[in-house]
Amino acid sequence: MESGQDTPDNGAPTKGSATGHSEIDVLLHTEQTFPPPPGFAAQANASDPEIYDQAASDPEAFWSEWARKLEWIEPFQQVLDWSNPPFARWFADGKLNASVNCLDRHVEGGLGERVAFHWEGEGDEKRAVTYDELLDLTQRFGNVLRSHGIGKGDVVGIYLPMLPETVASILACARIGAIHNVVFGGFSPESVKDRMAFSEAKALVTADATLRRGNAIPMKDALEDVMGEMPTVERVFVVDRCGTGPGMTEGRDFSWQDEVAGAEPTCEPEVMDAEDPLFILYTSGSTGKPKGILHTTGGYLTGATATHELVFDLKPESDVYWCAADIGWITGHTYIVYGPLANGATSVMYEGAPDYPTPARWWEIIERYEVTTLYTAPTAIRAFMKWGSEYPEGSDLSSLRLLGSVGEPINPRAWLWYHRVIGGERCPIVDTWWQTETGSIMITPLPGLTTTKPGSATVPFPGVQAKILDDEGVEISEGAGYLVLTHPWPSMTRGIYRDDERFVETYWSRYDSQTYAVGDAARIDEDGYFWVIGRIDDVINVSGHRLSTMEIESAIVSHEGIAEAAVVGIPDEMTGQAIVAFAICESGTESDAMEDVLRDHVAEKIGKLARPKRIVLAEDLPKTRSGKIMRRLLRDIAEGRDLGDVTTLRDPGVVDTLRRAFDGDAPR
Ligand code: WTA
Repeated sequence: MESGQDTPDNGAPTKGSATGHSEIDVLLHTEQTFPPPPGFAAQANASDPEIYDQAASDPEAFWSEWARKLEWIEPFQQVLDWSNPPFARWFADGKLNASVNCLDRHVEGGLGERVAFHWEGEGDEKRAVTYDELLDLTQRFGNVLRSHGIGKGDVVGIYLPMLPETVASILACARIGAIHNVVFGGFSPESVKDRMAFSEAKALVTADATLRRGNAIPMKDALEDVMGEMPTVERVFVVDRCGTGPGMTEGRDFSWQDEVAGAEPTCEPEVMDAEDPLFILYTSGSTGKPKGILHTTGGYLTGATATHELVFDLKPESDVYWCAADIGWITGHTYIVYGPLANGATSVMYEGAPDYPTPARWWEIIERYEVTTLYTAPTAIRAFMKWGSEYPEGSDLSSLRLLGSVGEPINPRAWLWYHRVIGGERCPIVDTWWQTETGSIMITPLPGLTTTKPGSATVPFPGVQAKILDDEGVEISEGAGYLVLTHPWPSMTRGIYRDDERFVETYWSRYDSQTYAVGDAARIDEDGYFWVIGRIDDVINVSGHRLSTMEIESAIVSHEGIAEAAVVGIPDEMTGQAIVAFAICESGTESDAMEDVLRDHVAEKIGKLARPKRIVLAEDLPKTRSGKIMRRLLRDIAEGRDLGDVTTLRDPGVVDTLRRAFDGDAPR
């Protein structure tokens, strides 16, 4: 899931006790559907089904109406420019500033004392951060960045835990026109280094340490080893989170808090073109090198605010909204930072692990702040299911009125548990399908309008056009195929940072230059509902984290003594998919400890989230005569299936040896 490195990771047992709910079992077999509860529908922000037809008949008019709700420094006249596909331009002659939209306009509208975040630390620290306070921190840190020579167009890396300072750092970049490049705090310093080097970041914002289950895990000191390999990073700002007093290099490293305390309180916002970059966010692709997904200002904010208001039925005066993702992922960018703040929402932000100090933690938070809306990932729901219903049942969850899911397909059993045990059978569930690249939710129920089917993300958001195509590009009206989006939308990525060629090739060349191939397989049913099946490229989705097989393979082979590696994803009851690696040692380097050593090595290279669940040491891999590794056979072995045709292999005996090696290893 997106909320951190502490969900049951790859080392956790997979055979959970996620069964034993007999009523859920009954429901599973009735294929019940769930119309919006009448009370909910009556008050919903989207309550007129006409919205779909209206948006479909003129998507540009639909989106520009949402865009006009933003505060523009100079209003736009142009809506969509699609004259050079796949490079879309939205609202291109308008000018605005994202931080002004998220903060100043609420403060100026008299809402300065509204809580933006009820922040809870992992221990018992609590902070209510108002819009006033967040604007103050943002302006001051904006001035700090400017005083260090950082300005419009410069890239600033952000590698931080879940703190109010993280939001302020992001918005400070937006304020001065710097491009933020957030790296999830669970990634390794190596991964930070790569992302800073690729994007030529000028500054990096980090913390002394992050709290994990009561321990301060160093961040700043851990980065020290790779600082030499980030020559473009001239300044490092260090948030003091744990008081660990990390080493500071004079002239390069500065205390975030000290700098902010000494800064001027007002910071003039940079006037940004709608198409000026707002941020880049790296995500795994099917090659070893992560892709820097670029988002711009006006269109992204339009998508974020429209979807946040309609999908989450936001009532900013009364809702307490909690997106439990980590800010380091797109879900955190769009649905913790930009969407909720631009819509003036009050959110909850929680720093720690979902089961710290007990698996009741989330439910206590919901009771404490009377949370109305919870948005999380299937992997978290499955973990809570496994830990037991007694934890949520011990708290008063009656404030909840809407539940959301994101990041991977949700299995109907988990959906039904979420509906019953967390939602008390009264809350609609929005299963939202989207991607880092799409910027905002694309396929989703509208909670007051859409009848839901457990396991289906249902239908495209108004103004979004999705289809299922077969291999030849012919539309499938009922059945499975490749999911595509066929009309531009405002929050779509504008490209891979400094790599247009890869952008076109990855997403826009499978069919034609106006059809966005999302990389997922999906099924469409007789009612036109979409059921996302999973990735079709070499991307593994572990607990909602996208990881590329090649990235993990290169991490493994970077270990001394490893000649070759192949990685596959297999279904996993808890984490959606799990990583299984096959590695060939150079002669003389085999040892019993090697598997553990390699798992640690991958954790060090990429982050704990990428640690394979199993690493099978082998003498050879199944290859065709032309030397291509047949991953299909590796998947068959890892999933215990009968092997199909192996006659095309150079050495058909390899698979038996591999199977013995796999079966002989006790599962971890
Ligand atoms: C998967 C996360 C099924 C999908 C917002 C997609 C989902 C990838 C769902 C994007 C969902 C996300 N149902 N699958 N509701 N939501 N996915 O970029 O494979 O981290 O392509 O964005 O997650 O992952 P990303």
